[in-house]
Amino acid sequence: MDAVTESTVGLADPRRDLARFEDQLVEAARRVIASGFYINGTEVRFFEETMGRALGLESPVVGVGSGTDALIMALLAAGIGSGDEVIVPSHTAGPSVAAIRAVLATPVFVDVEADTACVDPDCVAQAVSPRTKAILAVHLYGHPADMDRLKPIAKRHDLVLIEDCAQAQGALLHDRPVGSIGDLGCFSFYPTKNLGAIGDGGAVSGSKERLKIVRKLRTYGWSEPQYSDLALGRCSRLDEIQAAFLNVKFSTLDTDVKSRRRIAEIYKNRLSDLPIELPVERPGAYHAYHLFVVKTASRDPLREYLSRAGIMTGLHYPFPVHVQPGLSQGARTAGSLVVTLDLQAKILSLPLFVTMTDAEIERVVTSVQDFFRGRH
Ligand SMILES: Cc1ncc(COP(=O)(O)O)c(C=O)c1O
Repeated sequence: MDAVTESTVGLADPRRDLARFEDQLVEAARRVIASGFYINGTEVRFFEETMGRALGLESPVVGVGSGTDALIMALLAAGIGSGDEVIVPSHTAGPSVAAIRAVLATPVFVDVEADTACVDPDCVAQAVSPRTKAILAVHLYGHPADMDRLKPIAKRHDLVLIEDCAQAQGALLHDRPVGSIGDLGCFSFYPTKNLGAIGDGGAVSGSKERLKIVRKLRTYGWSEPQYSDLALGRCSRLDEIQAAFLNVKFSTLDTDVKSRRRIAEIYKNRLSDLPIELPVERPGAYHAYHLFVVKTASRDPLREYLSRAGIMTGLHYPFPVHVQPGLSQGARTAGSLVVTLDLQAKILSLPLFVTMTDAEIERVVTSVQDFFRGRH
């Protein structure tokens, strides 16, 4: 076991995670610089094909500039725009909702399930209106949303089912990777994500027809041959150099998720006798543990105690989206969102990252134990 040091334990540590690949990353950067192709070159194509295959899909994914842009372009590719409603949990990262607003559609906020913190299918079913066009299912914290129940709702009402996989790369439901279950999947390669770039990046998965639209949208709205058939596009591509970095890191995605799950198991075993609610993994689900989020009524004092012990924690998220004026303007809220409000007061994300040492894990465990056992 590594020696305990008094340095801070970060919530995540992308610098240390990256250090494992330093030589290969430098080599990848050199390769791109020497190639003379910096946009939509061979690294991007290789990455898109690798990830599409890993998802078990016919079509390669489409690399884009960020997870937010992935969501925006997925919504556009699904034909969603002004006057359309998109059902989304309020308990999510702001960008899930910002993307809906960006295409001028109306977010309809619904509650989440208490155990997984993912969208509640019963609330979704009740929120459907004649204007509803899509459901945005966020696989929050790395646990798959209940796609078994969301898919029939989408089918019954002819809705597009979009997966926000930003936090769940590597997660499975009945052995199927998230991003391959609904109609479209949106991924983020933000540096702390399960597959992180050294900057921004994202990808969209889905059917050939819809991805053709995303390809067009990401490059000004052009289609092949270039400069013809202009649509109202954007400029949002996955950079060649980021794709080269992701090609290096992709090879360890599965083992990285296993490492995350190992740390989560240790936390679960060691914290199980404390007055704290631990994350669940539902039958059939394979949790990718992007975040390890516990629930406790003593959240604020525990957070303060851990901070004094040099342990960083996070709140994902401090405010639900439906109470944030910048994001909720013109939105509709369906139902009472009681679970969302309850979570907001209790959630706390503990440190979890691939290169966390045993000593760091132990330090988090004993500090949480000490707090609850009054040893402070
Ligand atoms: C659930 C969720 N959706 C979307 C995003 C947006 O991704 P990006 O930061 O790559 O735009 C994030 C990133 O934090 C996220 O956590």
